[in-house]
Amino acid sequence: MSTDLEKILRPVDNPAPIFPPKYMTLAGGETLVIRQVDRDEIPDILPHVEPLIHVERDFYDIVAARVYAELLGYYRYRVQDEYVLVAQLDGELCAVVNGRRFNPEVGVSLHTLSLRRGLRVGAHAFAAKMEYHFDYLKQKEVLIVAESPIGFRRWMIEYKLEKRFETPHELGGVPSFALTREIFERVRPTLLTGHRPVPANLLAKAKAKIMPPSDPPKPPMDLMAATRSQSDNTGSALLLQRQVLGGQPKAVAKPKKAAARR
Ligand SMILES: CC(C)(COP(=O)(O)OP(=O)(O)OC[C@H]1O[C@@H](n2cnc3c(N)ncnc32)[C@H](O)[C@@H]1OP(=O)(O)O)[C@@H](O)C(=O)NCCC(=O)NCCS
Repeated sequence: MSTDLEKILRPVDNPAPIFPPKYMTLAGGETLVIRQVDRDEIPDILPHVEPLIHVERDFYDIVAARVYAELLGYYRYRVQDEYVLVAQLDGELCAVVNGRRFNPEVGVSLHTLSLRRGLRVGAHAFAAKMEYHFDYLKQKEVLIVAESPIGFRRWMIEYKLEKRFETPHELGGVPSFALTREIFERVRPTLLTGHRPVPANLLAKAKAKIMPPSDPPKPPMDLMAATRSQSDNTGSALLLQRQVLGGQPKAVAKPKKAAARR
């Protein structure tokens, strides 16, 4: 019975070509590999997205919460025709991008999440997903929205996207922008980079293991809360959360008993 119901709940993905992996050298000399991941790699990505749900700065919180749900939806077969690409530096997870096919001609850009700031890895990963929609899925246009001012600057302004305000986007029903094939061809020489095939050793390293981001965005330290946390429950929880997000879980001093505080 439950097996039969699962067949109804689970969408059947339409067949699609895969994104051929590519690599590029960043301004600092590091080599970035961008590749498509399959469902079985999603559990290795989720733990690195989850902490960003607590980072308000630059709207990481809302984007990470949505990306988490979308990746889980992909993993658990609850999204139609989704794909996920990752960018890795020496195996380290640096960016996650995803989207889906709305129909054979129209693509939907879901999210771009950079886990290593200041290298434009998010911009490169976004360009790669547009390359996937146009060069491999052969679509006519991709519907896009921004959830942050940096996203707006990166996509709407750098690509000079067209307004499609009459079309609500899947992300919250807000007015869409469109990246058309004409726009893509215009920006191809400047915004799209990368070489193929990826050298075998480089690709093997990327596929071997998704390594944790070495310097992911973190919430600011709340020093006042940390001080208060020595003697109140709420503060202790906050301090513990900061330590876990900082990657160094430590024992937190138990709050003193009421009698001892008098
Ligand atoms: C939007 C995003 C994907 C762009 O990624 P990116 O191309 O790798 O760019 P970065 O985030 O590293 O840098 C963005 C700007 O912040 C600056 N910056 C660099 N290091 C930074 C740091 N440690 N902290 C904050 N800002 C930093 C950069 O100089 C850059 O400025 P520029 O636009 O003038 O070049 C990324 O900012 C991100 O994941 N943001 C949160 C989620 C989000 O908004 N996604 C897009 C939804 S539409």
